[in-house]
Order: sequence, then structure tokens, then C-alpha cells
Amino acid sequence: MISTSDIDVIRRQVRSWHAAGETVAFVPTMGNLHQGHISLVTEGLEHADHLVASIFVNPMQFAAHEDLDTYPRTLDEDLQALQAVGTELVFTPTSDIIYPQGIEHHTKVLIPEDTIGDCGEAQSRPGFFVGVATVVLKLFNIVQPDVAVFGRKDYQQLVVIQTLVNDLALPIKVIGVDTYREPNGLAMSSRNNYLTTEQKEQAAVIKKSMDRLTHQLQSHQDTEAAITDAKQQIQDAGLQPDYITIRNAHTLQTVSEDDNELVVMVAAKLGSTRLIDNQCFNIY
Ligand code: PAJ
Repeated sequence: MISTSDIDVIRRQVRSWHAAGETVAFVPTMGNLHQGHISLVTEGLEHADHLVASIFVNPMQFAAHEDLDTYPRTLDEDLQALQAVGTELVFTPTSDIIYPQGIEHHTKVLIPEDTIGDCGEAQSRPGFFVGVATVVLKLFNIVQPDVAVFGRKDYQQLVVIQTLVNDLALPIKVIGVDTYREPNGLAMSSRNNYLTTEQKEQAAVIKKSMDRLTHQLQSHQDTEAAITDAKQQIQDAGLQPDYITIRNAHTLQTVSEDDNELVVMVAAKLGSTRLIDNQCFNIY
């Protein structure tokens, strides 16, 4: 496996694979890899001949008060884990390589503010998806993959990337992979490293509250009452809910009467750690 911060090395390798008629899957990450990330690599290799990953803690998607400085960085372990599952090439740029003129002077990708941009993480973290869409478009242009793999754990991010690819006519197939969870239901996340063992048990309430909420909605109980109930359940476990939002699973627009495929998106804080999760469900 080659790991490099050199854009030209990445380009040359991918070009030689493409010249041989072989396909490339790409898994962008911010490192501190866990089984959720690894499942994306395994999925990518089902769809292409070669797997390229990237590890870059993207400063553009962190607000000034967020955890950019403390975000866990475990490069050696990450590279070992990627190699063990068949990754051949890893792009590990520095911020200077991605943003040579600094973030303020870099071109940015705006996402639509009326649909995917008016709820969930877009509302709670202004500028977050501009940072994500910008870096992902740049990484796509560096790697030039045929297939790109993202987790449903960050459901709104997956929809943002799908929209980016459609709107800008990028020749890339986007694949979404189911959320990898701890046995107690907690979605795996690099930010779980901030939690104590006891907090990881408390945090399992997020999945439990989504299960109860979706069950209530499927039995046609009042939506607002079900959301209030879920917020209370999360609070009773010692977390502070940020939002619980129900949207059309495909467009992320507000739910209209004939929508059958929905998603519930949840964000909550446990101490200073912010956790997000979501669940798609059908309603008839
Ligand atoms: P990061 O949080 O490192 O996640 C990288 C990829 O792993 C994302 O597609 C994310 O949805 C997926 N992932 C994380 N936890 C998962 C889980 N428990 N199960 C399945 N997939 C999971 O998301 C980012 O980085 C960044 O925003 C990035 C796209 C790299 C742009 O900077």
C-alpha cells in the first residue's frame, strides 16, 4: 500500500489503473478509523478493482468553537487497518496542500439552502456542508474515482454528496453503506472516543428513541407528540437533544401527506460531545 500527501502520485497511480481498463473506488475519511469506516472500504472493493482512501481532518468543515484541535488523530493505526482490508493507495494531505492560499481564499461549493440545507446539521452547524462539499469535490478531482462510498451514519452528508454529484454532473457512482453500530445500538463514531464507558451506555438511548419514534409514527400516532416523547426519553438518559427532525428520506424536504419513505435525524449532546444518528423508515 502506498500512502502519500503528493497529489501527483495519486493522479499517476489512478491514471495507470484507468489506462489498464480498471476501476477505482474512493473512501474519504477524517481518520481515527473504526469498523464503520472499514465497512466502507470492504463495500468499495465489491464495486471496483482498486480502493483509494483519504485521511484528512478538514478544517473548512469545523466552526471556530468546534473540536478541530482535539479531533483524534491515529495515522499509523489507520494505515495498518486500511492495508489489512485491501486498500492500495491512501491520500494523506496536509491543510497546506488542500488549502495553499488558506481557507478564506479558497473557492467554495454552496449547497441549496431551501432543501437539504434548511434542516439538521446544516442548521445546527452553519457552513459545515460548504466545508464538506468543497473538500469532497476537491478530493474527487484529485482521485477521479469511478465509485465513491459514504456511510448512512451521516445521512444528510450522503444526500448532500449525491446532490453535488447530480447537480455538477460528476461521473461518479455514489454508494451508501448502512450504519455500523456497537452491540448496544450506539452508532460507531470517531467522536465516541470522547465518551467514558458509562457515557457509551447512556448514548445508546439515541437508537432506542429512534426505534420508539418510528414505531409510534408507523402506528399513526401524532408526530409532534412522538417527537416530544423522544426528546424527553433522550433527556431522561442525561443527554441534551439538539434536534429531532423527520423528513422525506430522498429529498430531505418537509414531509407531505403522500410521502412513504421517511428519515428521522437526531443530534444530541452528552457532556461536550455531540452525537448524530438517523434511521430511515416506511410509513403507510
Ligand atoms: P468521517 O467522519 O471520518 O467519516 C468518513 C466516512 O465514514 C463517512 O462517509 C461516514 O458517513 C462514514 N461512517 C462514519 N461512521 C460510520 C458508521 N458507524 N457506519 C458506517 N459508516 C460510517 O464524514 C467525514 O469523515 C467527512 O465529513 C468527510 C466526508 C471525509 C469530508 O471531510
